[in-house]
Amino acid sequence: MRLQGKVALVTGAARRVGRSIALALGEKGARLALHYNRSKREAQRLAADIRDGFGRDVAIFKADLSDARQAARLADAVVRRFGALHALVNNASVYEVNRFGQTSPRDWDDHLDVNLRAPFFLSQAAAPRMREAGGGKIINIADWAAYRPYTDRIPYCVSKAGLIALNTALAKELAPDIQVNAILPGAVLLPDDYPPRKRAAVIRAAPLKRLGTPRDVAEAVIYLIEGGDFITGVALPVDGGRMIA
Ligand SMILES: NC(=O)c1ccc[n+]([C@@H]2O[C@H](COP(=O)([O-])OP(=O)(O)OC[C@H]3O[C@@H](n4cnc5c(N)ncnc54)[C@H](OP(=O)(O)O)[C@@H]3O)[C@@H](O)[C@H]2O)c1
Repeated sequence: MRLQGKVALVTGAARRVGRSIALALGEKGARLALHYNRSKREAQRLAADIRDGFGRDVAIFKADLSDARQAARLADAVVRRFGALHALVNNASVYEVNRFGQTSPRDWDDHLDVNLRAPFFLSQAAAPRMREAGGGKIINIADWAAYRPYTDRIPYCVSKAGLIALNTALAKELAPDIQVNAILPGAVLLPDDYPPRKRAAVIRAAPLKRLGTPRDVAEAVIYLIEGGDFITGVALPVDGGRMIA
């Protein structure tokens, strides 16, 4: 699918990896629906950057994706504004430390609701719109740690493992009109407060001996949308080889 002139929705687009994905899609000519929850100012700035830099039609959309109804309504809001929806990138995510003994039901729900339930209901709302538009692409941003879970982030890792199962199920359910693929990033952008000692350990652990970049993830998104019309149901590691180490 060529992105030129197509409508793409990126969740959690305002900052960090989502911002890189949105910029790459804008560079390729997509009309962009930028979702945000708290980062309104960053979303506005990104919209201006894409409009000024690439001359694309851009709009921002607020939704709290812990609320399944807001997730479902988001796809409709995008179609009302742009008249179509061709690509959805499920990127928004909660990523908190939850030690086993201290994890509460609330911690569990916070991760599962945003990282797994929202992509399901967003996809459910988006799929008919994509079919109306002649087909579409859904990209789920998971994590290599879905396969090798961290014990101090069990709800996060379980949510991402569930997202891979969802990716497989949706690829079957939505074929042949819509291709559904996942990306499993390794460490591409550590939290701002990540301790230097742990950062060095992360670099040592990957065979390619460096951190990735948000752009690495964005390029995989572009590949799976533009170059991957015969690819569905895959979970592509973009992790410097971390999963095979
Ligand atoms: N960074 C990495 O190295 C890395 C590694 C492996 C996998 N990943 C995956 O790659 C994706 C992007 O990573 P990242 O580090 O850029 O993510 P992030 O900064 O942790 O979060 C991305 C965005 O998710 C949105 N979000 C959180 N809770 C939300 C809610 N209740 N409703 C709506 N949006 C919500 C936030 O939007 P607002 O700011 O607008 O509130 C946030 O900016 C994630 O799916 C992550 O799991 C990242």
